This record gives sequence, structure tokens and C-alpha cells, in this order.
Amino acid sequence: MRAIDENTITDAVVEQMSATPDPRLKEIMGSLVRHLHAFAREVDLTPDEWLEAIKFLTAVGQKCTPYRQEFILLSDTLGLSSLVNALHDTRASESATKSSLLGPFYRQDSPTMELGGSIITKSKAPEIVVYGRVTNSAGEGIAHALVQIWEPDETGKYDLQTHDPSEMDLRGCFQTDADGNYYFRALCPLGYMIPMDGPVGDMIRAQKRHGFRPAHIHFVISASGYREVVTALYIAGDDHLDSDDVFGVDESLVVAVKKDDAGSPLPHLPSIRYDFHLAAATTKDSMSGRVGADPSQITGKADEKSTAAR
Ligand code: BEZ
Ligand code: FE
Repeated sequence: MRAIDENTITDAVVEQMSATPDPRLKEIMGSLVRHLHAFAREVDLTPDEWLEAIKFLTAVGQKCTPYRQEFILLSDTLGLSSLVNALHDTRASESATKSSLLGPFYRQDSPTMELGGSIITKSKAPEIVVYGRVTNSAGEGIAHALVQIWEPDETGKYDLQTHDPSEMDLRGCFQTDADGNYYFRALCPLGYMIPMDGPVGDMIRAQKRHGFRPAHIHFVISASGYREVVTALYIAGDDHLDSDDVFGVDESLVVAVKKDDAGSPLPHLPSIRYDFHLAAATTKDSMSGRVGADPSQITGKADEKSTAAR
């Protein structure tokens, strides 16, 4: 009989999984086991410490509802979402706008609006116009691209975090015109704290991190035949651009809010101008760039949303 000890256990596990028919599943699980075991050896993990981690992961799962995704938050705060985004970007066959986090607050089926419409339904804070073009890598406008956007309110909360999370606010879905142009009205975004009332917040406090994200607006941009771009625009001058707790900021995504912008479709409002670039989709590539999803799709309990606690 083979002796199972601290030196032989890793090979024994990988060998037992070696008949996995799906080659990608086999590769991922084999590598995961090897790295997990190496980690346990490196830190000389004790039973008490591993039980603490199991309790933590249990609490992360228990915090998830159709309106809240604590596992995405964990992935984001560990930098894993940004790493997966960066890997996705390197697989594109053409240059495109850099990815940034989808985060835990994306929702499917946000309201469709006409170009120039406002995503503000309740907030009264200053309004801005965001405009630009969606182009391919040759700089040609992409007609009828879908531009989904969402942002938090003036208190730093997304609609999913409010007393009635079934109501949508500060989200919208726009289609570019025949030349690839888009424009919409939104709240001038402010920085905010990630959700700190769960196990991930406990982790952030234990690590003496501040918990802030710099001010931003989220975008998912898609068009037939192109790779989806999941990204966000970050407002220049924010104090946390260099210390985002979820590692979403890239210099190429930092934008200024301008006054008296003669090129703006609504020049009476402060404006942000940004052109997004999409790479052509290739057959062997995943079109989706989302590290995450609408929380209700992850729990698979969209129909139970009305009774779910936040
Ligand atoms: C967000 O930008 O919405 C977000 C991203 C990661 C963690 C928490 C919030
Ligand atoms: Fe956000």
C-alpha cells in the first residue's frame, strides 16, 4: 500500500484525478491541487488555521443572495478578478480598451434608453454627459453597439444595496448610432466604500486596508462580431486612484470632467468624452469579458428575488 504523507499526498491526489475526461478540467484541477498543497506546505498550515479559513469561506457563501455576491467581492479584493481580466486582454488578437472590474453590482436587463437619456431616476446630485464613439481597431465607428452602464448614487450605494433592491436606478442600456456615437446623462460619480458589512469587510479591516474605490462609471460594451469590453472610467483627481482596494484602475481609463466642452452634444453640462475600442472576436476566444454576473444568475434563484434579504 502506498504511504500517504506530507511528501506523497500531492501526487496521489493528482493521480486519482488523472482519468478526468475533460482535458481543461483536468489541467485546472491538477494545477489547483498542486498550488494549494504548495501553499499549505509553505506556510506550514495548522488545523486551526484551515478551520478558520473554512469558516470564512462558509460565511462568504452565506452572505450571497440574488442581490449580493460576496464571492465576487472576495475575488476582487484578492486581485484575482483583475488578474483574470488582464489575462483575457492579452488573448485579444487586436488592441482594444482595457478591461476593468465588473464588480458585484452588475445587473442583467437594465432599462433601454434613447441616446441622450438620463440614467438618474432619484438622485439630485450634479448631472454630467458622457459621450464618445465605439470603434473597431481601424478606428471605424461600430453601429448599434450595446452600451450598458451603471454607477452608485450620491451616498456611494448601488440600487442593489438599497432598501428595495428590486428597483433599478442609475443604470441604462444605449445603442450607438450609425457612426458608432453614444451619449447619455449620468450622475457625476463619487468615490465609495466597497461593502464592509460581511466577511470580506472583516478581512479588509484585519489587513488595515481603507476599503475605498475611486469614483467611476461602469461599462459593458458589446457588438456582434466583437469581443465584449467590460470596463470602467475613473475620474481624474480622485484620492484613491493609486490605492483602489480592488485593483481596477488603469491610467488609460482615467478621464477628466470638463466644463464648457464645445464638442459635447449637451454643452451646458459638464462632460466626459471617451472613445471605446473593440477587438474583433476570434473563433477560439471567449467573447465575454465578465468576471462575474448579475448576482441572481449566480445563485440561480432569480425567481426568489422578491423575498431575498440583502
Ligand atoms: C464596483 O466597482 O462596483 C466594485 C468592484 C469590486 C468590488 C466592489 C465594488
Ligand atoms: Fe463600482
